[in-house]
Amino acid sequence: MTDQYAVIGNPIGHTKSPLIHGLFAQEIRQDMSYTAIEGPVEPQDAFAGTVHAFVAAGGKGMNVTAPFKLKAFAIADERSERATLAGAANALSFKDGRIVAENFDGVGLLRDIEVNLSLPMAGKRVLVLGAGGAARGALLPFIAARPAELVIANRDIAKVKALVEQVASSGPLATCGYGDLEGMGQFDLVVNATSASLTGELPPVPPSVFSPTSVAYELAYGKRLTPFLRLARNAGVASVADGVGMLVEQAAEAFAWWRGVRPQTHAVIDRLTVPLN
Ligand code: ATR
Repeated sequence: MTDQYAVIGNPIGHTKSPLIHGLFAQEIRQDMSYTAIEGPVEPQDAFAGTVHAFVAAGGKGMNVTAPFKLKAFAIADERSERATLAGAANALSFKDGRIVAENFDGVGLLRDIEVNLSLPMAGKRVLVLGAGGAARGALLPFIAARPAELVIANRDIAKVKALVEQVASSGPLATCGYGDLEGMGQFDLVVNATSASLTGELPPVPPSVFSPTSVAYELAYGKRLTPFLRLARNAGVASVADGVGMLVEQAAEAFAWWRGVRPQTHAVIDRLTVPLN
């Protein structure tokens, strides 16, 4: 019987996951189907019911997107260290009646930066903007990649301090407000992990954080040249990227976890790339 997988979110109409996993399955000749499920937001326990119904119908695994990453983590019987550290799941596997939670967002992002964008993070100065779920997912793999300095800036200082306390890592981690960035020099990598781009806004980051050899990375996907990326371009940055590579790389990690074989990602990234103009 064809193995069944799905992505669950709400709304879910925009999802690229069925296309990505369909291309992976074609490439590696896997007998699997991958659909999109609009999960119920209300009542509270309805999400769990939808997941259990999918498992009962023979489902083998699921990707999880907004707003269900915390709920998916909560209903799991087992949680990977990565999912536990992030406090959220973006992938589930169903085996022997148990739900196992994973989180590949951070490793997908790191792989995109280090492999696809050729920026090994070790020894580099890295700046992350924002202190929400996206920043939290990025921080842990970034710390493990041993940058020389990792600065996290946010409007709400108490929130960014709380985030770093939860991560509880030693290492070159610092927090600040946007105003403090003026005197902090240039960074090799600047990641916009705020939700500002979703509403066409610009986090108040000074152009002085960029050098021509910096990489400017926008976590949002398919928003073209966001105000953040435009600021970076205007500051002379040649290498600007959005989250398409992260999207495909986290999918490849989930695919490898489920199927035991890692697909190639370059052709899929090319296919999904929305020009940055
Ligand atoms: P989630 O956890 O779902 O990612 P969130 O907790 O609302 O979402 O986090 C959104 C992040 O984007 C926050 O860091 C927020 O900054 P504040 O904590 O200071 O509010 C940031 N953000 C949203 N809009 C922004 C803007 N226009 N400029 C700068 N930061 C912005």
